[in-house]
Amino acid sequence: MNLVVIGAQWGDEGKGKIVDFLAEGADIVLRYSGGANAGHTVVIEDQTYKLHLIPSGVLTPEKRTVLGIGMVVDLENLFEELGMLEERGVAWQGRVLLSDRAHLVLPRYRQMDKERDAERRFPLGTTGRGIGISYALKAYREGIRVADLYDPAVWRGLSAQDREYLEPYRKRIEGMVVDVSRLMHESRKSNVLFEGAQGTLLDLDHGTYPFVSSGISCAAGAAIGGGIGPQQIDQVVGVFKAYSTRVGNGPFPSEFRKERDGNLGDVIREIGREYGVTTGRPRRCGYLDLVSLRYACRSNGIDTLCLTHLDVYDAMGEIQACVAYRVGGEETDEFPATVSALEGAQPVLRRFPGWQKPITECRRESELPAAARDYVRFIEEYTQTPVEITSVGYRRDQTIVRQDPWTRS
Ligand code: GDP
Ligand code: IMO
Ligand code: MG
Repeated sequence: MNLVVIGAQWGDEGKGKIVDFLAEGADIVLRYSGGANAGHTVVIEDQTYKLHLIPSGVLTPEKRTVLGIGMVVDLENLFEELGMLEERGVAWQGRVLLSDRAHLVLPRYRQMDKERDAERRFPLGTTGRGIGISYALKAYREGIRVADLYDPAVWRGLSAQDREYLEPYRKRIEGMVVDVSRLMHESRKSNVLFEGAQGTLLDLDHGTYPFVSSGISCAAGAAIGGGIGPQQIDQVVGVFKAYSTRVGNGPFPSEFRKERDGNLGDVIREIGREYGVTTGRPRRCGYLDLVSLRYACRSNGIDTLCLTHLDVYDAMGEIQACVAYRVGGEETDEFPATVSALEGAQPVLRRFPGWQKPITECRRESELPAAARDYVRFIEEYTQTPVEITSVGYRRDQTIVRQDPWTRS
């Protein structure tokens, strides 16, 4: 079975936690897009792991993990991460594989990324990890791929400086390199978990362009970056937070505003510990945006939703969520294509009663307060998509499952 986990917002929805939770049922966990711009947090007992390139499944013993075709891989970052795992006693040898077709991020791309972004009239606020440069060179057909390190003709054509940098890695990664579509074919009877990075609204095509990342973060990217056909994707799980966050610049219609919402933004940021994993930047926070969530359900074919961070609302007397936008005097519940429409959009908010009690120890839906269940039910009705996993804390066990996606049909 092929199960895809994607972000349904602007990233940081809790994909790392959910992939780690679902990894038990997988034989292979494959990251299909993005690079070290991602930061996926997994908390296991008293240990917190922050992964940027390696799939979160690496923390489950014996699972094989793959850095897929659609990724852009910074080898320095990769070995830093492998070193971190080794130091912390995670045996990764033989379990971390790397696509021969993945592209490489060279150190100078990081600097170029920062400089180019700063030169823009409206900087995107990239992570400075060289991601956009690497994908641009890929599209321009001047990128360097993993397989190129072993192709004498390409290797000879690289500059002396690049060869010097890459030379030590040729040996170090040799045993990790695989043909991913062949591996997927050989594993067609296995359970493969495709780990998305970023989120729908940061997807190059479906996101709030140009304020997006450069990879394919939507569900279809799992087929491209994972070397399978689209009809082989069995289930798509969309992960979203009970509210919204965004790091970096770009439109955010339901963002909390001081004049309307007082200090709600700061309160949620502190309770939800909303600081970027990769850059440490404070995340912008806002109301749950159901307009964009439904758009994400449609554009990814999400079968089932996973709601995270519901516990962050525990203390609230009242909750609000955005159910439509007012754009130029008209109300719409469709997600606009342009930045100017999104920037001009005023959120139409709907109020929900809060539950004002801790839910972090709830392990079944029936244990959730009625007000929390009502909030979830409204989301299901609005998006026409079931919410079958609810996360009530960052720990693995703080997860409520109505329907296990591995046994869903
Ligand atoms: P990802 O990029 O989608 O993997 O998400 P990040 O790891 O960047 O950010 C999610 C943050 O929320 C991490 O610090 C997680 O430990 C934490 N987290 C995940 N799920 C929950 C949850 O249900 N409740 C709370 N309070 N925190 C959560
Ligand atoms: P995960 O996988 C949140 C954002 C950056 C910036 C924009 C472009 O942890 O959810 P880039 O460096 O990719 O060219 O930056 O995209 N961004 C993310 N925001 N979570 C992520 O990944 C992100 N990856 C990129 O902040 O606004
Ligand atoms: Mg993240």
